[in-house]
Amino acid sequence: MTHPRRRPALRTTAALPFALAALLTGADPALAAGPVGASGVGDPYFPLAGNGGYYVDHYDLTLRYDPTSRHLDGRAVLTARATRRLTRFDLDLHGLKVTGLTVDRAPAAHRRDGQELVVTPRRAPGAGERFRVTVTYSGEPGPVTDPDGSLDGWIPTDDGAFVAGEPQGAMTWFPANNHPKDKSSYDFTITVPDGRTAVANGVLLDRRTAHGRTTFHWRQTEPMAACLATATIGKFQVEQYTTRSGIRVHNAVDPREATAAAPVLKKLPSVLEWGSGLFGRYPYRAAGAIVDRAPRAGYALETQTRPVYDHAPDLSTLVHESAHQWFGDSVSLTSWKDIWLNEGFATYAEWLYAEQHGGARAQTAFDALYATPADDALWAVPPGDPGGAHLFDTPVYARGAMTLHTLRTAVGDRAFFRVLRTWAAEHRHGNGTTDQFRRLAERVSGKGLDALFRTWLHLRGKPDTP
Ligand code: TRP
Ligand code: ZN
Repeated sequence: MTHPRRRPALRTTAALPFALAALLTGADPALAAGPVGASGVGDPYFPLAGNGGYYVDHYDLTLRYDPTSRHLDGRAVLTARATRRLTRFDLDLHGLKVTGLTVDRAPAAHRRDGQELVVTPRRAPGAGERFRVTVTYSGEPGPVTDPDGSLDGWIPTDDGAFVAGEPQGAMTWFPANNHPKDKSSYDFTITVPDGRTAVANGVLLDRRTAHGRTTFHWRQTEPMAACLATATIGKFQVEQYTTRSGIRVHNAVDPREATAAAPVLKKLPSVLEWGSGLFGRYPYRAAGAIVDRAPRAGYALETQTRPVYDHAPDLSTLVHESAHQWFGDSVSLTSWKDIWLNEGFATYAEWLYAEQHGGARAQTAFDALYATPADDALWAVPPGDPGGAHLFDTPVYARGAMTLHTLRTAVGDRAFFRVLRTWAAEHRHGNGTTDQFRRLAERVSGKGLDALFRTWLHLRGKPDTP
């Protein structure tokens, strides 16, 4: 219940300090004066993630993947809005070969610089103007290795690919404004050999087979961060139904995981209903699960509307990824250092679910964790700023959940659950920061909470009092 949803990370040895990497590549948006879009949104953990000068309203992705050769052909049409005049701007793209690029239908000069795809349009979009970028690309996609040693992005499997982009991996399969600050709607048109299934986010609009290939058209209408997009491919058993509250469920399950997954997936509607009662209305029209067999990934991810699982989940993992639909997906991060807003909340949702379904009280979970000695991994980094190499370490999950429990104890159940619901409502389909969350909790409870948050999120080592 309190463990990160993954195997122990490998250690990276030769990681360049990020601040240094940013300096070398000129990622600091403050340095990017003039009508040139910055190479990052200014995230301290991932200086090159996202870009400056525009937001993407919509991604229209057309993909064709051959699981045997592992070759991907892609075309991405981005409808974007400039926040300033843009004589030049960047997209994020890792690997792959760009075979064509136009801006508003005119061929545009472009070059690659690490993960930056630098575009110089023939005519610069003006401030506030909409513009359309079309990129055709191809190659053999593979994952990126994160600072914590884990893989994310396009991860080939024995029958397709497991596609999970948090935090950096979206750029391994499409050119993106790759930071959760920018949220967009998506269309996915994915062609795979007949007999394989391609599963993305949102609603399946169409599926047709011709000449030995099947094309799946998925649409995600509600805003989505690029890292939460998926296009997972494999041999899957598919199940579709609509819940009593009108949510369209689409499950895709690797047959080898089907027996283990079935009893847990059966609970999805009741888990979503439980979440709606506690956190407010479920944010999306679609839901479901993708249960793959992906040992190379070793973790599940809350891909929007339809989490991907590397193997059949247990119930608390299903609850965890479901809770992320409110906390992490609908309310997205503004900065990766606030990752506890995702993982602490989803972990605390597991505790709440247990407590309300005949399991241990949240207080019991808290006490058991607090009893661990000061040299335990739980106290190794402060969850409010864990560092890019510790994004998904135990403190972010467990001490993050302990932070919420401490808040609940301090303000009482009525105020606490009102804070959670108000947080989900006020930032629905948007973004949030830790500071905004603290101010909301103070406003709702009428209490000063600076010391509580400082102790539980930022103090190094084990807090003296629970
Ligand atoms: N956010 C995922 C979850 O807890 C976990 C996750 C995403 C992860 N990317 C990761 C864990 C990379 C380890 C490494 O549901
Ligand atoms: Zn999580």
